[in-house]
Amino acid sequence: MSTTTSDVKSSAPNEHGYREFTLGGFAFRRDEFFAHITWPTGSHVISIDGFLRALQRDVAWNFFYGTVNFDGVIGTVNHYGNVDLFAGRYNDAYRKAELDHVENFDADVIGPTFKAMLDDWTNADFDPFASPAETGKPFGVKNGNNTPAVTRHRVTASRMVGVPGDETVRTDATHPINRMFADVPQTVPKIEAEPGFEGEVCAFNLFAYLSRSDVTWNPSVVSVCKDSLYCPTTEEYILPIIHGNDRIEWFVQLSDEIKWDVQDRDTGAARAKVTMRAGDVAAMPGDIRHQGYSPKRSMLLVWENASAELPALIASGKAPTSPVEF
Ligand code: PHB
Ligand code: FE
Repeated sequence: MSTTTSDVKSSAPNEHGYREFTLGGFAFRRDEFFAHITWPTGSHVISIDGFLRALQRDVAWNFFYGTVNFDGVIGTVNHYGNVDLFAGRYNDAYRKAELDHVENFDADVIGPTFKAMLDDWTNADFDPFASPAETGKPFGVKNGNNTPAVTRHRVTASRMVGVPGDETVRTDATHPINRMFADVPQTVPKIEAEPGFEGEVCAFNLFAYLSRSDVTWNPSVVSVCKDSLYCPTTEEYILPIIHGNDRIEWFVQLSDEIKWDVQDRDTGAARAKVTMRAGDVAAMPGDIRHQGYSPKRSMLLVWENASAELPALIASGKAPTSPVEF
């Protein structure tokens, strides 16, 4: 029996208990340890832990900015309304062998399919957003679901965390302090507003807020000024995607250390290794892909420019791919 619900095409559970999903010429199948992906000119295998961690981010971030590489072969490119699903498209060897494949889908088709696959393939013990040190294993035959974890609320403030009616600050009741941030002061800023402005000034302790994050590699929007978004995140282990930028992103390392592998966005050729320590600031160019390694839980501020015009300006050469020329 196969099921088609509102554009999600999937099979009955296979011998491991997991449904198989198709998107155009792509097919996705999971067994106890791996995701198997096939397309008309090839096939690929990804360890299920890495696959689910990447899929979780692609789903929760609504395909993010630009390219989300699950690894060096499979990924998506966001065209904001429609999405390319590709295999080998940004991999020199696949391109030269003409084995790469791309299909474009309406976000309303690929989004629900990815969501259904994430929910069906994530067992009760596994949380794809958690640090590997803080979750059970994803492996084995089908064993329940973890729907609350894979559909958890993503913080996206419309103005700022703590502003009345906006995203709320975190407390012991909702978000206990993470084991790695036990030493982070939990003081609350004192507001001294000019008379008449008492109801219009707001502040929160960002370090205390981040010390209570229960997820890793998940930038949340904590403040917004027009297109300028502050998206801090807490990191531990490896960024589960290799992000291909369609705009410049600024990184401010707020604590500890992350090492970044930076490659050419389209070929994957090595471009730089960047070690960022607390206080370091970097601009990631608009034509690269990058993956971060955080040996200890750290705090990173990702500063995004959400302007819808940027991808076309950069692609056409009208806007530069890095903010400074040395
Ligand atoms: C990024 O691709 O820039 C990125 C994504 C997730 C993070 C940090 C950085 O947690
Ligand atoms: Fe990025």
